[in-house]
Parts: sequence; structure tokens; C-alpha cells
Amino acid sequence: MTYNYKGMNIIIRDTYEDVSKKAAQLIAAQVTLNTKSVLGLATGSTPEGTYKNLIEMYKNDIVDFQDVVTFNLDEYLDLGAENEQSYAYYMNKHLFDHVNINRENIHIPNGCTEDREKTCEEYDNMIFNYGKIDLQLLGIGTNGHIGFNEPDVHFEAGTHVVELDDETISANARFFDDISDVPTKAISMGIRNIMQSKKVLLLATGAKKIDAVHKMLFEEITPNLPASILQVHNDVTIIVDKVIGDMIINKLDKK
Ligand code: PGA
Repeated sequence: MTYNYKGMNIIIRDTYEDVSKKAAQLIAAQVTLNTKSVLGLATGSTPEGTYKNLIEMYKNDIVDFQDVVTFNLDEYLDLGAENEQSYAYYMNKHLFDHVNINRENIHIPNGCTEDREKTCEEYDNMIFNYGKIDLQLLGIGTNGHIGFNEPDVHFEAGTHVVELDDETISANARFFDDISDVPTKAISMGIRNIMQSKKVLLLATGAKKIDAVHKMLFEEITPNLPASILQVHNDVTIIVDKVIGDMIINKLDKK
């Protein structure tokens, strides 16, 4: 089922697997139509299934990453690419090691930099030099964050160092041995970078995301719910599973 609400496309699929498949199809279509697409990529549990589908499509000769350029949303501070918890490691494991992407075309913020300000500025400049991100893939945090843009966000910020919210630290603790091991800071693209992308593709699945998606779509735009700013982006597609879809259908039926 597909709905249009405030100009946003909302696609509802039954399960996480179905959401992942649909997301991969949309990314593959983007990359096929423009072989030099600039993709903004996300980490976390949500996009893992999407990447799995893309790898499968690559192996079946359906999609080709040779000229694709990527920019990841974020990286923890002080975790190198060899650290299993870093997002550089995640990306290699879940996508890059399995497809024909040119390593020179991969961009992930350097969390181990000596000069954080310069690293952030250079990241913005690199994106700018490619023009715009053609398609930005996003998950959403239970607190409504996109990338690591936490509540009380500055909507106008570009890439910057962020202090992680307690909710994010506890949500991400599942990837670490102990919650005290979760880094408290990261480098993240800002909302400005995300809003400048030509297309945004946001995925959300599972009951714990219902509240954040509800606020993102149906409540006012506020820095307290960073994803709410997407209401004014002009090309947003949101793919959700049935549990979130039921909430959306219920809400739209009452309007
Ligand atoms: P998750 O994280 O996919 O691991 O739920 C999403 C996010 O924090 O953006």
C-alpha cells in the first residue's frame, strides 16, 4: 500500500524483510538510472536487510556499483575502521566488501581525526564538490534522531561533532559488551546535509519506532524531534512495516 501525506510517499509492507526488499529496489533503481549516483548511507540494524538485498542483486547482475559514490551519515569518535563497533567496519562487513564499489568513492567521517573541525568542514566540502547527494538512506532513532542529530538539534548545521543522547547510548549498547563502552560522541552529517539531498528514503520497522514515526509525520516540526523537519523536504519516501503502517492508516482514516 502506498499513501501520499503532506507530499511524502509512505509505503507500507508487511515485514522487515519486505521493507528491506523494497528499499533495495528503490536504491537499485536510482543507481541504474544514474550510474554515478551519490548515495548517502546509514548504519544500525535497520538498513542491514537492505544491504543484504543489494548484495544479492549485485551477485545476480542486477545492480552495479562501479561508479557509485557514497557518503556515510556518521561515525563514532575515536573508533578506527579496524574496530568492530565502528561504522567503517560495519559498512565493509554489510556492503562494501561484497560489491564492486570503487574504494576511492567511499566516504565515512574520520572519527579518529586530530582536527575535528577541519574534518567536518572537509566532509561538507567533499559532498559539495559532488553537487548533491542523490539519495539519502535514513533510519530513525526512538528519540526521532536522523544520523546522530539528536533532540534539540540545530536544523541549519552541516557535519559536526555531536554528543550522543542517553536514549541513543542505551539503544546502541546492544552492539557493545557493556554500555560504558558505547562512545558518547560522534561526527555526524547535519540536518542541512540531509535536507540538501535530492531524495530521502527513510526506513522504520518495529513497535518501538511507532512513537517516533507518529511524531515525525503528524506532529509539529520541532528540533526536539529532528526527523520532523522531513515534512518540508520535497522528495521523501518512507517505508514502514505493518505495525507502524497500522498506526499510520488509523491516523489517516481519522483525518
Ligand atoms: P536502528 O537505529 O536501525 O539500529 O534501530 C536507527 C537509528 O538510530 O537511526
